[in-house]
Amino acid sequence: MRRAVCPGSFDPVTLGHIDIITRTSHVFDKVVVGVVNNPLRKDKTLFSAEERKGFIEEATASLGNVEVQIFSTLLVEFARENGAHAIVKGMRAISDFEYEFEMAQLNRKLDPTIESIYVIASPHYSFLSSTGVKEMATFGGDVGDLVPPGVASALAERLPDR
Ligand code: PNS
Repeated sequence: MRRAVCPGSFDPVTLGHIDIITRTSHVFDKVVVGVVNNPLRKDKTLFSAEERKGFIEEATASLGNVEVQIFSTLLVEFARENGAHAIVKGMRAISDFEYEFEMAQLNRKLDPTIESIYVIASPHYSFLSSTGVKEMATFGGDVGDLVPPGVASALAERLPDR
């Protein structure tokens, strides 16, 4: 059985993430989406890990081979625990490359048996990021066609004073 992990902060998940997860689910037998509990490089998250996990579960419910888990370990450890030999992430533009290059090399050093694979973002999501979505929502922009419906209503509730 070919398994992949799709890791991320997902604060919150966007339709760009869902696109990558869906396309990965067509290539692998099983996809485990890993929601990182405490991302080191970022400030406090807007949504809790449980909330972020719930949004992804809701948006991927129709995909039969996707499961969502929270993890707080090294990514390669999370992949090993799930019997996955591939880490699959989205790549939007060249601006993603430097960070992803470093991550892929670090992960390769930690465990060379786990391959990092990058899926190029669909053109209509190539500008989309969780940070951009939060900024738009904060200032009253319509994010309805950028995030799953559950996320859009949660953003409206969480960021009401705009
Ligand atoms: O969506 P993001 O913020 O780009 O996802 C970052 C993530 C979760 C992939 C990264 O923070 C991560 O892998 N965290 C776990 C710790 C780890 O293994 N780091 C990489 C090797 S040092």
